Amino acid sequence: MLRRRTFLGSSLAAPALAACATAPAPAVHQPLPHDPHSHARPGEARVTHVSLDLAADFDRKALSGTATLSIEARAGAREIVLDSDGLIVKSARTNLGDTTFEFGSRDEQLGQALTIAIGPGVTALTIAYETRPGAGALQWLEPAQTASGQRFLFSQGQAILTRTWIPTQDSPGIRQTYDARIVVPEGLKAVMSAEMLTPDGEAAEGGRAFRFRMDNPIPPYLIAIAIGDLVYRGVGPRTGVYAEPSVIERAAYECADMERMLRAAEAMYGRYRWGRYDVLVLPPSFPYGGMENPRLTFLTPTFLAGDRSLVSLIAHELAHSWSGNLVTNALWADSWLNEGFTSYIEGRIVEALYGGENAAMQFALAWADIQKAIAAGPPDDTRLHLTGERSADDGVSAIVYDKGALFLRTMERELGRTRLDAYLRSYFDRHAFQPMTTQWFLEDVRARVVRGGPALEASLQLDTWAYEPGLPSNAVEPRAEAFERVAAHAAGFNAGGPASAIPWASWGTFERQRFLQTLPRELQAARLAELESALGLNGTGNAEVLFDWLSLAIANRAEASMPAVTDFLTWQGRGKFVRPLYRALMEQGEWGQAHARRIYAMARQGYHPIVQTAVDGIVTAA
Ligand code: BES
Ligand code: ZN
Repeated sequence: MLRRRTFLGSSLAAPALAACATAPAPAVHQPLPHDPHSHARPGEARVTHVSLDLAADFDRKALSGTATLSIEARAGAREIVLDSDGLIVKSARTNLGDTTFEFGSRDEQLGQALTIAIGPGVTALTIAYETRPGAGALQWLEPAQTASGQRFLFSQGQAILTRTWIPTQDSPGIRQTYDARIVVPEGLKAVMSAEMLTPDGEAAEGGRAFRFRMDNPIPPYLIAIAIGDLVYRGVGPRTGVYAEPSVIERAAYECADMERMLRAAEAMYGRYRWGRYDVLVLPPSFPYGGMENPRLTFLTPTFLAGDRSLVSLIAHELAHSWSGNLVTNALWADSWLNEGFTSYIEGRIVEALYGGENAAMQFALAWADIQKAIAAGPPDDTRLHLTGERSADDGVSAIVYDKGALFLRTMERELGRTRLDAYLRSYFDRHAFQPMTTQWFLEDVRARVVRGGPALEASLQLDTWAYEPGLPSNAVEPRAEAFERVAAHAAGFNAGGPASAIPWASWGTFERQRFLQTLPRELQAARLAELESALGLNGTGNAEVLFDWLSLAIANRAEASMPAVTDFLTWQGRGKFVRPLYRALMEQGEWGQAHARRIYAMARQGYHPIVQTAVDGIVTAA
């Protein structure tokens, strides 16, 4: 299908190669803002499609092969600039023949510009390359690190790591379709954030080949791959789970509500545009809770609580199918547009499936986190739109997630739910497959909702929310009745009441977290021990509750919990749990520091490079 496109307002120098025109490029209405986290200059030449042909070599810890990029260039463009970090490039040629390439100087954060010469008539570029063993996006696991005892590879692209395994323009505003052919060792299966064209693979030299296709233009941080001993189990007409064989049963149990979540989200925000929604439960070193790779959310196994009590994580990643994957922050400084919207929608899905009280409790926990962040942070760090010198990963905070969600909750109260829902639905439709900035969002709200009304303009406080530190005066305060009962029990225990009086068994995850989070940080050793034995805290299978408990135990130098701390820090490597626990240990003088060093010596090699770097800074800095 050949389709005439406009490129930043000017017409193309040459028609796109028919073979590469697998999907229409997104209509970019405004020129993209400059992305400080990318070397690309999309105004001159931009990538529209990535075609990968790669083989996975587990012995050498390398992906090697070719990436063929479809490009659109302004008339007269002499070069295209890609992002790369650590890639070993062997050759580059265009659809017209051989060409030259050049690496720029290496920036610690951004990697290197890879500049390739082009000229009139160039519509495709083929780069032969391979990745290095230390590629930041890739974790190559040894058999001992997986449930199946087989080797495993997974990628994590967000925020700016895709450039460590694919030479492309790695900026969230530069959307690309992709296809891939991946050759893996016999016995393993490849999955990607794309339509799976070969569920059983095909015979190929050196193993089996799996082919994939993603026809929706996506930001490059959403291109994702995993390879391992994987099996699949459907849980609904459009939903299912991939996991290693010994994990699949528990994983499928935990994911039983996915189809209902999908329908609830569609009812509010419009059609799900990605076909299937599957999840992949990864080995325990996966550094995040979840990653919203399109069609295939990647999940930590720490969400497998055995009782579906942590499934709001799935609601969150599913919500990104609208906020983030459909409408995407153009710059990482605006990641609240991805994560804040998504946390708001997560709450709405939780409410639709599990009731208003559950949503209210989650909201109240988030409120406490916002208050903590505001109390701790320099004011500049409490703005939604991040300013100044920032790393691309600074968008992981209670501000981006929870203050962002609170902005939408406040809009909901001011406008009424019906009106906000109608607006959000049209926002996703009108900006589908396009980048978004804070400024464009506010302009859109003013054009569609405020429409010059002075009362609404004043009551929404849009600019204060988006650009000022702290919380605006109109912020909605949560009220969760269940938490008033939790507070009464915490007060009873603090006043010397018995731990056996706490109705732990009748509480869900949120009440348990609230209880542990609101206890005073310092408790008498006997009281702590009583709590542990009455509630069985060291042995809880709920990772969020365990994390809150172990944080409290460490603050009290509770030796009796150190086996549980050791176990938790060695079996899983989720950054959100691992980083704060090491930090807490390091704050406890020689006692805690000795534990931190002992545990890290055992655990480090199992952690993802992202987490290793972070914990190196915590444990070895002191
Ligand atoms: N997209 C994020 C994960 C992420 C953020 C990766 C920033 C790299 C940089 C994902 O959707 C997410 O938010 N995960 C959370 C879970 C959620 C329930 C708050 C996590 O990993 O804990
Ligand atoms: Zn998220």
